Amino acid sequence: MSVGNEDYRDSGLIFPKDFVIGSATASYQIEGAWDEDGRGPSIWDTFSHTPGLITDGSNGDVADDHYHRLEQDLDLMKELGLEAYRFSISWSRIIPTGSGDVNPAGIDFYSSLVDGLIARGILPIATLYHWDLPQPLEDAGGWVNRETAYRFEEYARVIGEALGDRVHTWTTLNEPWCAAYLGYAAGVHAPGRTNNADALTAVHHLNVAHGLAISALKTVVTNDPKFSVTLNVHALRGVGETGPEAVRQIDALANRAFTGPMLRGEYPRDLFDDTAAITDWSFVKEGDLEIIHQPIDILGVNYYSTTAVRIWDGVSARQGADGHKPAAGTAWPGADRVEFVSQEGPYTDMGWNIAPGGFEQLLWDVHTEFPELPLMITENGAAFPDAVTDGTVHDPERIDYLRRHLTAVHRARARGVDLRGYLVWSLLDNFEWAYGFSKRFGIVRVDYETLERTVKDSGRWYAELVRTHVLPE
Ligand code: FCB
Repeated sequence: MSVGNEDYRDSGLIFPKDFVIGSATASYQIEGAWDEDGRGPSIWDTFSHTPGLITDGSNGDVADDHYHRLEQDLDLMKELGLEAYRFSISWSRIIPTGSGDVNPAGIDFYSSLVDGLIARGILPIATLYHWDLPQPLEDAGGWVNRETAYRFEEYARVIGEALGDRVHTWTTLNEPWCAAYLGYAAGVHAPGRTNNADALTAVHHLNVAHGLAISALKTVVTNDPKFSVTLNVHALRGVGETGPEAVRQIDALANRAFTGPMLRGEYPRDLFDDTAAITDWSFVKEGDLEIIHQPIDILGVNYYSTTAVRIWDGVSARQGADGHKPAAGTAWPGADRVEFVSQEGPYTDMGWNIAPGGFEQLLWDVHTEFPELPLMITENGAAFPDAVTDGTVHDPERIDYLRRHLTAVHRARARGVDLRGYLVWSLLDNFEWAYGFSKRFGIVRVDYETLERTVKDSGRWYAELVRTHVLPE
């Protein structure tokens, strides 16, 4: 099957009415108000305030100022006709030190958000953890400390009690792969550590946190919500003869390290073997797999591009195209022999290759592996260097990207993948982690001087899709 681009430009495809179309954001990337109304510091405040760690020297202190512009942003979502909005909750707003006292102003903010969504007919999809760990918990060891998982359970209970009569879908973690490996091994994300054993320990404690949170939420919610987790399941392509072995290793670290315990109740044996020189995994305690393996209703999948791998021959110049910033550490503990091979373009502004065929293949593969589990695209989208002309943004590349990827979604559904919805990343241009404000993913432009919002051409295109459920030209 083609993983390229050429034949993925349909229009006129029809999505059924119950296929949910919306958008996604994350707290640290848009909220700002970093030290207001009782919010405590998170690891992303510390990381972004450390000179040299963010490409453009920026931070999320103000970001899109969404915290102060809630009503305006809700109206914008209504104007675009969004059917669902995936947001994340800042743990540091709810429990400023990560444990103990609850901050009522934090609860009020998210309560207003949820009410505002419901009043506008938009389904609230809440993520509990999109990487912004309260700093005091990091000071106590972060995700390397098992206690953090129990603090997460407490936080889940608190927020579940507050919003558990209204939230439509609860998502425990966003992309634990990034939190563990980019944060604790590669060092390119907060907290910026570079220790392979720590990263693998963090993987496990994030898994435990997921299971504890699902159980806690289930005991407190009073409506009938869906429970989920979002993974950036890696779409892997093996290159050449050694491709399959390289794919096996990266699949174990990136995908099965999470889907194994969460969805099957076991870690993959080969993951333990591949990483045996780094850790003996003795942090996996008896009973942990039962804790982690909770039934969920839907699996969130984030997709941007594909990853191509082979085993390095030890002779040629080694490629390192894994799509992330050059790092002090590796994002792939134990996979030292794997080479990340450059892929054919076109590319987005992130340098990520555009591959809608890889998207269709990934959805098919996940569905084949877990046929009973409904899927939801919780993120997909593209950064391009937009320009403002005539007071608006013409972004045909982004429209093209979205059209091709929605074509892939449609084809996957036609092949029988139980795919319930699609949420574009992102509603607004925002703080793109280590890249700061230098990468724009929004279907709405944000002017970072005036904080003015301008709907891009892609935003209008997307609004037409939501209104008609037909893929526009
Ligand atoms: C994902 C993140 C999201 C955003 C996109 C571009 O990995 O979940 O916050 O940064 O990438």
